[in-house]
Amino acid sequence: MSHLSDRSTAKRAQLFDELKTELQVHTKIEEEIFYPAVRALRSKDARELVIEANEEHAIAKSLIKQISELEPDDETYKAKCKVLMDVVLHHAKEEEKHMFPEARASFSTDELKELGAKLEARKEYLMSGGLGESDSAEMDDEDETEKDEADIEAGTRGVEVELEEERGDGVDDEERGDGADDEGTYERAMS
Ligand SMILES: [Fe+2]
Repeated sequence: MSHLSDRSTAKRAQLFDELKTELQVHTKIEEEIFYPAVRALRSKDARELVIEANEEHAIAKSLIKQISELEPDDETYKAKCKVLMDVVLHHAKEEEKHMFPEARASFSTDELKELGAKLEARKEYLMSGGLGESDSAEMDDEDETEKDEADIEAGTRGVEVELEEERGDGVDDEERGDGADDEGTYERAMS
């Protein structure tokens, strides 16, 4: 146990715990909300981007599971964390370079705003304790799923009301790609 009291080992474990939560929330909100929306665009590029992104998520989740089962002083702990970071950085770069521009070019300003609001609401719920044990273990619990779906529905209704109100203020439905704030919303939700 003396190794566990070592400051750098403890710090490493703490950093991993923080990264683990961030990544679990990131993968969940994208796989539930963002990727299905991008895939529904039905372009070959969009489909391939989503398939690749899902594979990167799967690798990250596998590494998270492996690291979670190790003691922080295990000789492979640091190496696995490093590989996880490499995968995450590559994934983030790919999303910024390809997936987000594809979304910006294909969705209307209102659609981007709605997606961003859904992602924000879901992220907030998960970060404030909604990321339960079943989520952490990637197990499918029916009650939890129903609860999650109800939560998304509630969040979506709120967004729709907001959008209705804004349309009354003369928001142009045809506007595409010129609302910097709106475009940034879904990216912020995933950062
Ligand atoms: Fe992602």
